Amino acid sequence: MQFELAVLPGDGVGPEVTTEAIKVLEAVGKKFSHSFKLNYGLVGGVAIDQEGTALPEDTLKMCRASGAVLLGAVGGPKWDDPQAKVHPEDGLLALRKGLGLFANLRPVKVSPVLVDSTNLKPEVIRGVDFIFVRELTGGLYFAQPKKRWQTAKGRMATDSMTYSEQEIERIVRVGFELARGRRKKLTSVDKANVLESSRLWRQVAVEVAGKYPDVELDHMLVDACSMRIIQNPAYFDVLVTENMFGDILTDEASMLAGSMGMLPSASLAGVPQEGTKIFGMYEPIHGSAPRRAGLDMANPIAMILSTAMMLRHSFGLAKEAQSVETAVDEVLSDGYRTYDIMAEGKTKVGTKRMGDLTAGKVGG
Ligand code: IPM
Ligand code: MG
Repeated sequence: MQFELAVLPGDGVGPEVTTEAIKVLEAVGKKFSHSFKLNYGLVGGVAIDQEGTALPEDTLKMCRASGAVLLGAVGGPKWDDPQAKVHPEDGLLALRKGLGLFANLRPVKVSPVLVDSTNLKPEVIRGVDFIFVRELTGGLYFAQPKKRWQTAKGRMATDSMTYSEQEIERIVRVGFELARGRRKKLTSVDKANVLESSRLWRQVAVEVAGKYPDVELDHMLVDACSMRIIQNPAYFDVLVTENMFGDILTDEASMLAGSMGMLPSASLAGVPQEGTKIFGMYEPIHGSAPRRAGLDMANPIAMILSTAMMLRHSFGLAKEAQSVETAVDEVLSDGYRTYDIMAEGKTKVGTKRMGDLTAGKVGG
């Protein structure tokens, strides 16, 4: 079969990890007789430098015409001036909004072989396997008003935490659908003791729960949730939350897996259900790591696992996705580690070698 995807390597370590993910994708193509047509495009800082905008119109068009998008990372100190008119991150946010990618899936699974590579005690970490569903096109990131202005007394700024019941309902449904295919436990995270938007969120979550009697729903305040993630992460199965809460909690949760370099993500334009293909954008949750760029250091595993998520959710290739995930497990079991997950007695490798080893394992 032939599949078409847009590839946006972006900035910093983005291009390096993308190259390794494509290597692995080509290996999947060979093993399983698929061909992947790759359309490369600009986003982020490179797009600002070359085209003067963080998301050129051509890139958006190309993404819309593809079955999925693979994105490396955007941003870097070169474009960080707060006074600048445009920032690389604007390109990422415009892609999410422009492509209608409202559901961000961030799985946190602790590989048994990495239990000793994390900062937490092995007994806390063991068996952790949960998935965050982060709302991605609303809330504090996008709602209006959002501005800075000058008053007689000084400068002011505002962002808005606004949600409609439709926005809440569709994201909560994603949580329920995923929970249904797992351990049937959904935790909805909010700040309903203080925020009106959270009170509506909680109300809508309870209403949607009526359609999923087989799934157990609980509610957790976001501050308590951040504590529970460290105290007893094995408690969780599926979590669903607002955009900004999800941004913060998923960086925290990534440390359970040893490194941000291990965690993939999928941003979907619909509710994932068995046997359906959904348009999505796939990217590692780590950023552009500018200090590591060009040094063949970055861990490509998050990007490789993002590619596996693409195969599963956008191309309906579950077997192929599994073979990529197994390949990653095997390479780790063989003792290979990038610097971020290095441990005593293991073999340290760079970005390229990690990509080669993983591609070599695909399909057994
Ligand atoms: C993420 C990142 C982005 C976000 C940034 C780069 C805009 O932190 O994907 O979590 O805040 O959503
Ligand atoms: Mg983030």
